[in-house]
Amino acid sequence: MNEAHPVVTDSICTLSEAASKAPELRGVTSGVPGLDELFYVTRFVDGKPRKVPLGGYPSYAVINITGVSDTGKSLMAEQFLVTQAALGHPVCLITLESPAPFVATSLKERAAALGIEARSIDKQVLIIDAATHTPLREDLLSLFNTLAYTIKQHKVTCTVVDSITGFFEEREMLARGVVRRFFHFLKKWHQTALLISQKRSGHEELSAEAAGGYAVSHIVDGSLVLSKVAITTRVEARQYGRAIGELVRLFRIDGCRLCGHNVHTHVMDITDTGVVRIGPPLSKLVGTTTDESGGMRWRP
Ligand SMILES: Nc1ncnc2c1ncn2[C@@H]1O[C@H](COP(=O)(O)OP(=O)(O)OP(=O)(O)O)[C@@H](O)[C@H]1O
Ligand SMILES: [Mg+2]
Repeated sequence: MNEAHPVVTDSICTLSEAASKAPELRGVTSGVPGLDELFYVTRFVDGKPRKVPLGGYPSYAVINITGVSDTGKSLMAEQFLVTQAALGHPVCLITLESPAPFVATSLKERAAALGIEARSIDKQVLIIDAATHTPLREDLLSLFNTLAYTIKQHKVTCTVVDSITGFFEEREMLARGVVRRFFHFLKKWHQTALLISQKRSGHEELSAEAAGGYAVSHIVDGSLVLSKVAITTRVEARQYGRAIGELVRLFRIDGCRLCGHNVHTHVMDITDTGVVRIGPPLSKLVGTTTDESGGMRWRP
């Protein structure tokens, strides 16, 4: 027995012991039209594999949502929170960007846009205001204790951090360490969680680096990459079926460890009331001629 480097027997278990503790995989509805069908599981029917839609984010997943500014990250997270709250599940938002009163206004707007009665979710949505309370941003243990307290007191099942980037601003080399601590904390507390990562425009749009940068995507269960393309050339106009000067929003699931997922890049839009919706894959638009510009317009 080496006392300096002891054998950690508690870390060893059989497959059946570990499997007996594995949570059931189910879909946790995202509140984003067109997104829930993009995750699936494979079931064997008569010996043949068959894709069965999961109907939402995989339960207990910690998912990274990344994109530059104005790509719809916060809207997607708010849609998730108000939808889960309306279904009767207490949810928690850790805000580092906007102070709680501003976030409250935005959440109520999102609820109204989705046809959810704001009063029905008033007590189900918990907000931890780390934008106003600086110690929560600077002392991760204090933040984790506050979150653990909130989860226990209110039986919270879903957590959003907007943004995780706020915990390593000006200290980007700490990104992986911070994300890893959040990941293990959220797993331990059985949260289905969204971490919002802000991305500098310098990061390539749809590459793996785009999935949060700083190799954050290797730590989390999956990444959602949001981007936008301003149409400035005829080639782009033709490719996307849009006029020069228009903006095309794109969405892609960049890997998910817990279940199968659609791998195409999809168009998405943000409605006038501020609701993110996922549209068809780009492959369905490109090369399909339906208007004079040579592309197919997606007009939901
Ligand atoms: N209430 C609303 N009604 C209509 N459109 C909205 C509304 N709120 C936001 N939008 C549009 O959606 C865009 C995306 O907003 P969102 O706050 O989700 O961006 P984000 O990706 O979180 O950006 P950031 O990284 O700066 O926080 C806004 O820039 C705006 O064009
Ligand atoms: Mg935001």
